[in-house]
Amino acid sequence: MSELMHLIYSSAATQHFGRDELVELLDRARTTNSKLDISGMLLYIDGSFLQVLEGAPDQVDALFSHIAKDSRHTTVVTIIREPIAKRTFSDWSMGFADVSTDDLNEIDGLNDFFTGEACFTGLGAGRTKKLLNAFKSGRWRSRIEGITPPATPSVAREREPSAPPTPDPAPPELALDIENLAVSFAFQPIVDVANQQISSYEAIVKTDSGGSAEEFLSPHMAGPNSGLLQRELQHRAIALAAKLGLNTGLTLKYSASGIEEADQLMSETLEIGERYGFTGNQITLEIDQDQLTGDTSWFAAVIQKQRGLGLRFSIDHFGDGRSGLSLIDAYQPDSVALNRNLVTGIESHGARQAIVRGVIQTCDDLGIDLIAKHVETEAEIAWFRYEGVELFQGTIIAPPTFEKLSGDIGYTERLAA
Ligand SMILES: Cc1cc2nc3c(=O)[nH]c(=O)nc-3n(C[C@H](O)[C@H](O)[C@H](O)COP(=O)(O)O)c2cc1C
Repeated sequence: MSELMHLIYSSAATQHFGRDELVELLDRARTTNSKLDISGMLLYIDGSFLQVLEGAPDQVDALFSHIAKDSRHTTVVTIIREPIAKRTFSDWSMGFADVSTDDLNEIDGLNDFFTGEACFTGLGAGRTKKLLNAFKSGRWRSRIEGITPPATPSVAREREPSAPPTPDPAPPELALDIENLAVSFAFQPIVDVANQQISSYEAIVKTDSGGSAEEFLSPHMAGPNSGLLQRELQHRAIALAAKLGLNTGLTLKYSASGIEEADQLMSETLEIGERYGFTGNQITLEIDQDQLTGDTSWFAAVIQKQRGLGLRFSIDHFGDGRSGLSLIDAYQPDSVALNRNLVTGIESHGARQAIVRGVIQTCDDLGIDLIAKHVETEAEIAWFRYEGVELFQGTIIAPPTFEKLSGDIGYTERLAA
């Protein structure tokens, strides 16, 4: 049996599609598709398209790249691209339904193509049917307003299989000259775009000349010095932030969650903060989701206690690896920062959109702030803004500045306008 796949995408019409325009488009599509042995269907509702393309992977990808560049539609979002065992629309080089709003509730068997064909009722109960039904009930309708179309809509490819994880090396017993540690900090704003304010600055550890400190610090992060190191880094970040006159929130990485003195370390952070004039709720500890997996109920209890004392908590890299929504239940953080893999190119990736919408809804329901970190394009920002996300961190908004608070939110003012 030859290899088959289907690709399902949604898009928004950029021009009026009346009957004549649709018939012309379909005539062309049916001729080309039958030559390429591509089957599928096109659904059109009030300016939104949903199309299913089925066939040999190379042919489907090539046709989709071609269609995606058609200027008659925009915001092309790949909802799914996956292998299939058999075609759902084998007889149709391009089935079609044009559904007006009034007809929505009676979509079964509607329209020229579908009348008498019992299209929806005839479909097998697979993913295609579920997606068509989701579209019918208002989901996956692309909206032009507020969304900057991506310059080149991308084809979602199957992910390259990742290399098997290499086991962590045993923590080395490295000597660490804490007092003479050659590190300093850059500060990157987390911006509340709706209110045009810097909500917090994240302190990012650097070498004392502003380079990446990761390579030389990471061997110590999990080792016997991790508590000492944590204490020193937080002290220095707080002292520098105070010296620079920081009067917003201050976000500090907390990377020693595996150690028993967590409670002690956090209390010290709070004390140091107070010493430098930071009041309660100004300091947020950002904890990598990796450190929150497994049985960490004792750690959750520490966090809850410290929240009560005035520290705020954020889960970083949310959505990476195996972290799930249950982390939110266990830790009840003040904020959640999305991992880069959920943010990059979100305006054209259906699966990422569906996952992130779920996270947004959960955070909204629980009063947790959601931070879209690592935003790099206006199209990504526009997508998050449309979904109601207000907090952003990324180079395009404001890059980290070494030993300085940039305070520049000019770009943000343009976004809020
Ligand atoms: C929503 C939408 C769906 C389309 N579907 C198909 C299709 O299934 N097959 C096809 O050949 N062209 C399809 N087209 C039209 C192509 O984008 C393109 O205009 C057509 O292939 C002619 O391309 P050419 O002028 O480069 O020859 C579609 C266009 C739009 C806007």
